[in-house]
Amino acid sequence: MPRHIAIIMDGNGRWAKERSKARSKGHEEGAKNVRTITESAIKAGVKYLTLYAFSTENWARPKSEVEFLMKLLERYLDKEAETYRKNGIRFEVIGDMSRFSDSLVKKIESIRAETAKNKKLTQVLAINYGAKDEIVRAVKKMQSLSLEPNEQNLSISLDTAFMPDVDMLIRTGGDMRLSNFMLWQSAYAELFFTKTLWPDFGEEELFLMIEEFKTRERRFGRV
Ligand code: IPE
Ligand code: IPE
Ligand code: MG
Repeated sequence: MPRHIAIIMDGNGRWAKERSKARSKGHEEGAKNVRTITESAIKAGVKYLTLYAFSTENWARPKSEVEFLMKLLERYLDKEAETYRKNGIRFEVIGDMSRFSDSLVKKIESIRAETAKNKKLTQVLAINYGAKDEIVRAVKKMQSLSLEPNEQNLSISLDTAFMPDVDMLIRTGGDMRLSNFMLWQSAYAELFFTKTLWPDFGEEELFLMIEEFKTRERRFGRV
């Protein structure tokens, strides 16, 4: 079984375009799917689910889209706090929070604190996340603590220090690239790419991927 699944939730814009709708509609539909897939991951016995929701590069999108995504994130958190409570989900974030509004940071912190003891599954939202940015911040942290630069110390300085490396990395939406996501933590992840657009990605496809994961031989460089 994979302990940690990470998903690049891509394809919201194309999902909307196919239906002649605004991109924002696709993002709304995508946000709804987060709950569906989180519940499926719990059913499957996954312990950590990391979801790429907003990259350090996504700020370069039109201002109106960025503003919509920020509001959607706040709305999502307002609504999901209850789901976390009900389902025993611990909520975490990775990424550089310093660029977010005070109200958003406060909301995130309060949900994190409130759900810290939940054990069923840890749902990690990657927001204003970029792997290169994360590694640079980790190196600065190591320096400031006078830690010797080695793999162990870098790992514990990353935003992801609290969780194991990625077992399964999934990208929806048909593109075959990592787009600056979890470069360090995915060094030995099994990769899965699907053409399915994120709002259409459901439990059935996730479970098929998990079945395939179980058949893959992970050698970690050994023979
Ligand atoms: C992913 O969907 C969500 C975010 C990056 C916020 P996109 O918005 O990238 O959708 P496509 O790739 O344009 O279809
Ligand atoms: C990756 O999708 C980021 C998220 C899903 C949050 P993008 O749509 O931003 O990636 P590129 O630009 O196609 O590489
Ligand atoms: Mg995209």
